[in-house]
Amino acid sequence: MKFGTKAIHAGVHPDEATGAIMTPIYQTSTYVQPEVGVNKGYAYSRTQNPTRHALEKNIAALENGKYGACFGSGLAAIDCVLKMLNPGDEVISTNDLYGGTYRIFKTIFEKYGIKFHFIGMENAANIENFVNENTRLIWVETPTNPMMNIIDIIATAALAKKHKITLAVDNTFATPYLQNPLDLGADIVMHSATKYLGGHSDVVMGALVCNDEKIATEMYRIQNSSGAVTGPMDSFLVLRGIKTLHLRMERHCENGEKIAQFLAQHPRVEKVYWPGFENHPNHEIAKTQMRGFGGMISFSFKGNKIEDALKTLKRVTVFALAESLGGVESLIGHPVTMTHASIPKEEREKAGIVDSLIRLSVGIEDIEDLINDLEQALK
Ligand SMILES: Cc1ncc(COP(=O)(O)O)c(C=O)c1O
Repeated sequence: MKFGTKAIHAGVHPDEATGAIMTPIYQTSTYVQPEVGVNKGYAYSRTQNPTRHALEKNIAALENGKYGACFGSGLAAIDCVLKMLNPGDEVISTNDLYGGTYRIFKTIFEKYGIKFHFIGMENAANIENFVNENTRLIWVETPTNPMMNIIDIIATAALAKKHKITLAVDNTFATPYLQNPLDLGADIVMHSATKYLGGHSDVVMGALVCNDEKIATEMYRIQNSSGAVTGPMDSFLVLRGIKTLHLRMERHCENGEKIAQFLAQHPRVEKVYWPGFENHPNHEIAKTQMRGFGGMISFSFKGNKIEDALKTLKRVTVFALAESLGGVESLIGHPVTMTHASIPKEEREKAGIVDSLIRLSVGIEDIEDLINDLEQALK
């Protein structure tokens, strides 16, 4: 099946009891067993629930993977990957990543004896300098949040294979519509389904997809043992959201391109970060591994004054000042005080997250309204 058909049909089928075309919300914790040890595939909803199961199969199909698992948040999905490691293991992670991912690595897993190296990955060859006999995981986010750097998944996967290291890719920004890391050689793909997969800013959820049976066994063991699962109502909402993922992504990409171009020619704007520009440092890699450039854009002001960013955030009327991204509505945020506040200033600035940086999640509204809004806010 092609992408749009999979988004609508993969993993779901009309309800056997009633013929309902939409997957029912199986709002139940347990399942009656006709006799001990006999059930219909479901025993307890932490272990598995039919609505969640349909969603897990759907997301796995979109990522061209065999095994999918959904969690109570994107961070719970990341938590599951990290729990596959042991004390003494080392992780190489991009240094330009979602602040919450940095926080869980540094403040939760470091104290259990896992060592993290946060490095620039724009040049994949640099990763090899940090590999040693304890390296077990490479953590990649591409495009990165919020600098929109592009990391070469094929080159990183080759390096990971050579050293027998697991490669996990956070595919939240690109979505499976624009990029499929497993096809490019990654072992695990991770999503904050809160964002584009759900698409309507009404759910917090995470997902993992993989092809390897051994990784899948660990993933399901940890999902069930740690219990950070998502509920049936949220599973239904994300299943419904995904049915229009391909249509929404087309419009996010179209609007994103127009806004990036508008900002690039604006006299007050210093730099625009968007992988679709030919002068983006890894534009050629983006073109190889992505099918479009998405609706996430960051930009900074000439003079780099924090007040310029804060004033703009106050003045917008269509863009909403809020955390998160990937919903139908356009959002605007200030990484330094919002999404990336948990990263120390020194680390932030190394990655280019300066005081005047603004991040946009361009929604699917009419482009004229979005540009007019930015124009009046930037005046
Ligand atoms: C790229 C990325 N990864 C992971 C997460 C964490 O996901 P959640 O907020 O669903 O826990 C986020 C949240 O903003 C994100 O932007």
